[in-house]
Amino acid sequence: MTEADVVKGTTGGPVTQADLERDLRRLGVAEGLTVLVHTSLSRLGWIVGGGQAVLLALEAAVGSDGTLMMPAFVEGVPEPSRWRDPPVPESWWTTIREEMPPWDPAVSPTRQVGVVADILRHQPGTLQSFHPNKSFVARGPNAHTLLDGHSLDDGFGEGSPLARLCEIDGWVLLLGVGHGNNTSLHLAEYRANWPGRRTPVLLSGRLVRAGRVESVKFVDVDGTSDDFDRLGAEYERQGGAVAVGAVGRGTGRWLRMRPMVDFAVDWIEANR
Ligand SMILES: CC(C)(COP(=O)(O)OP(=O)(O)OC[C@H]1O[C@@H](n2cnc3c(N)ncnc32)[C@H](O)[C@@H]1OP(=O)(O)O)[C@@H](O)C(=O)NCCC(=O)NCCS
Repeated sequence: MTEADVVKGTTGGPVTQADLERDLRRLGVAEGLTVLVHTSLSRLGWIVGGGQAVLLALEAAVGSDGTLMMPAFVEGVPEPSRWRDPPVPESWWTTIREEMPPWDPAVSPTRQVGVVADILRHQPGTLQSFHPNKSFVARGPNAHTLLDGHSLDDGFGEGSPLARLCEIDGWVLLLGVGHGNNTSLHLAEYRANWPGRRTPVLLSGRLVRAGRVESVKFVDVDGTSDDFDRLGAEYERQGGAVAVGAVGRGTGRWLRMRPMVDFAVDWIEANR
């Protein structure tokens, strides 16, 4: 969707930061909470100040005692055989594996995480977890607890910011996106037994740590979010606690991570 499409589709005037803050509070976002946020700006109506206004509204809603976490993903250590959006010809795979510049959190861009997450990433004082493919950013009192010691192996598993968020009973906020973008469900995917779970993918590549280029090898689950929308719909249908409400001209979903992850482990084992 282009910005012109967003303007055209926004009835009743532009959305302001104050509108967003009010809507977030109505949905349940409250001071002091720790929240993993996924956004699509264009799905919230045309906003005065765009992504910056969304971030400021989120920061006001959780207050200085709250912590915001967002994805900062990019395939810094690539496995092009798994690429779907878009796939690339098999004859390119070796070149991509050999020639990918080392992942460097100071330089490497993110991919498809949205402008709000990128604004958070560049805010002074925001911390970033050290993972070439599954990095998260966070700011607030729990940022270190969430991000420190992100394991290279199983980047959404027990050594990840997702597991830390689950441990501290954190929250998930989907702004203009559905459960298909609910990354916290990947933790369930790591915890569940399902066909394919035991066939790890071996990744190798390079990254920059403390100013030096380093070669790394790690393993990961060959995961998928293809069934997350179905999983989320089933969670909501069975009465899982998800508050759904207007945020700007779009829809927000607000939920506690832990009960949904517990549900998702069982659902994945039964449905994959
Ligand atoms: C990929 C994704 C980010 C695309 O959503 P999007 O709304 O097109 O992209 P952004 O959130 O970056 O917003 C930028 C878009 O907002 C629109 N926009 C620009 N100014 C705007 C304004 N003031 N107000 C509202 N929308 C505006 C434009 O369409 C712009 O797209 P453009 O840069 O191509 O012109 C989204 O679909 C998504 O997947 N979000 C979740 C990301 C995530 O958390 N990923 C991890 C789990 S999978």
